[in-house]
Amino acid sequence: MNDSRLTIRTNSPIGTISPRLYGHFAEHLGRCCYDGLWIGHQRGGIPHEQGFRSDVIQALRALPVPLLRWPGGCYADHYHWRDGIGPAAERPSRLGMSCDLQVEDDNSLGTHEFLWLCAQLGAEPYLAGNVGSGSPQELCDWLEYCNSAVPTTLARMRAANGSPAPFGVKLWGVGNENWGCGGNYDAPTYAREYVRYATMLRHVDPSAELVVCGHEDAWNVELLATIGSRMQLVDHLSIHRYWINGGPETEFDEASYYALLSEAHATEAFVQRTAEIIDDATGGQRRIGIALDEWGVWHPEARAWGPGSDITRRAPTTYEQANTLRDALAAAVALEGFHRQCHVLSMANLAQIVNVLQAVVMTDGAQMWLTPTYHALRLHLPHIGTTALPVTIEQGTSLADGSPAVSATASRTSDGLAVTLINRHIDQPAAVRFTCDDAPDQAVGEILTADRPQAGNSAADPNRVAPTTLTVNRDGGNSWHVDLPPHSLATIVLRSA
Ligand code: AHR
Repeated sequence: MNDSRLTIRTNSPIGTISPRLYGHFAEHLGRCCYDGLWIGHQRGGIPHEQGFRSDVIQALRALPVPLLRWPGGCYADHYHWRDGIGPAAERPSRLGMSCDLQVEDDNSLGTHEFLWLCAQLGAEPYLAGNVGSGSPQELCDWLEYCNSAVPTTLARMRAANGSPAPFGVKLWGVGNENWGCGGNYDAPTYAREYVRYATMLRHVDPSAELVVCGHEDAWNVELLATIGSRMQLVDHLSIHRYWINGGPETEFDEASYYALLSEAHATEAFVQRTAEIIDDATGGQRRIGIALDEWGVWHPEARAWGPGSDITRRAPTTYEQANTLRDALAAAVALEGFHRQCHVLSMANLAQIVNVLQAVVMTDGAQMWLTPTYHALRLHLPHIGTTALPVTIEQGTSLADGSPAVSATASRTSDGLAVTLINRHIDQPAAVRFTCDDAPDQAVGEILTADRPQAGNSAADPNRVAPTTLTVNRDGGNSWHVDLPPHSLATIVLRSA
């Protein structure tokens, strides 16, 4: 049994945990958008609301989903928004392309459908624009179509298609991974292209928040150096982080278990480095948020590249993978870092929302189930929109990579405190005592664990990994303790009676 002692420092707030840090990503890739979310074109007896699966909508509403990025990913740089408006029967059928997949795309899920879904979920929409095969004019037209209150031809088209009021979409990505699938640009060339796009987009809607495509450190340095004196055109710098070193999706060994958690832990350092690069480039004069607009685990079974894919890859690649308790713990490890970096991280979108990669919801025909990652995010619900507080580890065991076996994130809620604890240790339980200056006197806890970290849910066994109640004991004064089994995650909400 590991003994851990933690102190929540209620007097040193880090910043607000923006709902945007709990964003999601829906790409027209595999069965994410078509089939997972949208069944408008095939209904087949599955209950739906306006073409979107009712069971999926319900699950996502409960999560919640404060932000949703669409339509790609690599798909975005082939997407022409005009294909997805107007009567469905008149929409063209195109080659849907992303990540080496080619499918027939009937464009039945377009702008109005996506924005209807966002309204139903209470999600802020984030549209990824096409730079790779598009033009500044095409993206300006999409922005005008969505947001203009002036009765132009485009705004009247929007009204004729069912939305007289402007949608007011704030977040606009200027391309996606333009260092790779989005056009194979070098950083200075893309930077100049970005300045051109952003200049024209700002004329159409000065209040739009524009996201420039970042990458690894060297690209980000060059990109921002080239943008130089035009930095006022950048609101967010996009970075992506996939964890690929965790071995097989389910039958992983101990070393792979820790390798995945270690990679998830290192995401915070990537965000910190990116913040330093932004600071250096702007002399601290312009606040550019870091948009981690794709993150999560990408197992070798679901990709044709990278470590392990030669052994375990499934052909054809569907981008679907198993989701286990280990993946849920990895997500929680990353979220801890997001809270600590909430003063520089402006958004984070888990990839992807349904069926693909680290999905929170899976579907198979009429069946739907929630993944362990869904439950991990749901356990973080009390933190959304609250104030992040630092947690000091006074005593505890370290893992081989130097990270703590037991770690925590805490926040001040409207009526108390919320604490999420992770016992990362694969086989040792932990006795955890945490203290805070002004703890309210009532506590409720929920825990997510399973007999083994390889456990997951399925259509046949949808609740194998699901939260249960955790006993929380008050030690007197401002100190509480809980016992955590190995590989577990728990949230404790403290409120005054
Ligand atoms: O999420 C899958 C793919 O990963 C996206 O299309 C791309 O942006 C990234 O490489």
